[in-house]
Amino acid sequence: MNFLKQHVVDFLNTYRIGKQIYFDDYFKNTAQLSISENLKTPRRTDIINYLISVIDAQFYLEIGVRDPRKNFNKIQCKNKYSVDPGIEFEDNPVDFKMTSDLFFEKLKSDELKIKSDIKFDVIYIDGLHISSQVEKDILNSLEFLNDNGFIILHDCNPPSVFHQREEYNFKNSPAKSFWNGTTWKAFYKVRHQSDLFSICFDTDWGVGIISRKQYPSFNNIKDKVQNEYYEFSVLNKHRKEHLNLHLFEEWTKIKK
Ligand SMILES: C[S@@+](CC[C@H](N)C(=O)[O-])C[C@H]1O[C@@H](n2cnc3c(N)ncnc32)[C@H](O)[C@@H]1O
Repeated sequence: MNFLKQHVVDFLNTYRIGKQIYFDDYFKNTAQLSISENLKTPRRTDIINYLISVIDAQFYLEIGVRDPRKNFNKIQCKNKYSVDPGIEFEDNPVDFKMTSDLFFEKLKSDELKIKSDIKFDVIYIDGLHISSQVEKDILNSLEFLNDNGFIILHDCNPPSVFHQREEYNFKNSPAKSFWNGTTWKAFYKVRHQSDLFSICFDTDWGVGIISRKQYPSFNNIKDKVQNEYYEFSVLNKHRKEHLNLHLFEEWTKIKK
């Protein structure tokens, strides 16, 4: 049974077992958001491979890999590197079995098989989904990113307040085990940096892209922070503008 089917079954089971508790429209409509999000295409892997082809990327780094068959192994790039401390996947067949913080620390002090002057063309950040960590990952990644390169972030567009909870293990909500964490807060914050440009593709839980180069439709937020307290309700009301949400297919047409 594939991932999506499993979650549809989970959802239906919860709904049936918990009828008394969960049979309200708010719960039902919020739970439905997971199903809708999972049906969106293209998936992150297609977007990453597309961006790799746009700049003829030669060096790819993935932070947070879990099962590499799901994404890493499908990435088409000549030189690929992976970082993961192995929290969620015991095998953890990655190049650097460590946290992203330790990886960047060692990279900066030349303690790894790759050298500190390496520049990646594409860095995919999908490690610990807590905003402070994601921000650190973005800032560290920028030091090792080529000028025309892309930082790609998964899970930037949580469909409900439950999907963007801080605690992954709290599953007794309409989001069940679906979890985007608070990645969106780091993405939104970085969107206020005037030297960076970004866009978020409205698919696969929000695929955020950051670059130093201003690709078509990429922008940044010029005003002061409008969502000063990083409230989900404010994101929800202004997500198109605050995340610079676009449909990927439309963007590829503008881009050509
Ligand atoms: C969402 S999964 C990655 C999924 C994968 N990138 C994909 O697209 O299919 C998150 C991974 O991040 C890893 N992780 C957790 N904390 C981390 C950290 N501090 N640094 C790097 N990776 C971390 C976990 O072990 C887990 O394998």
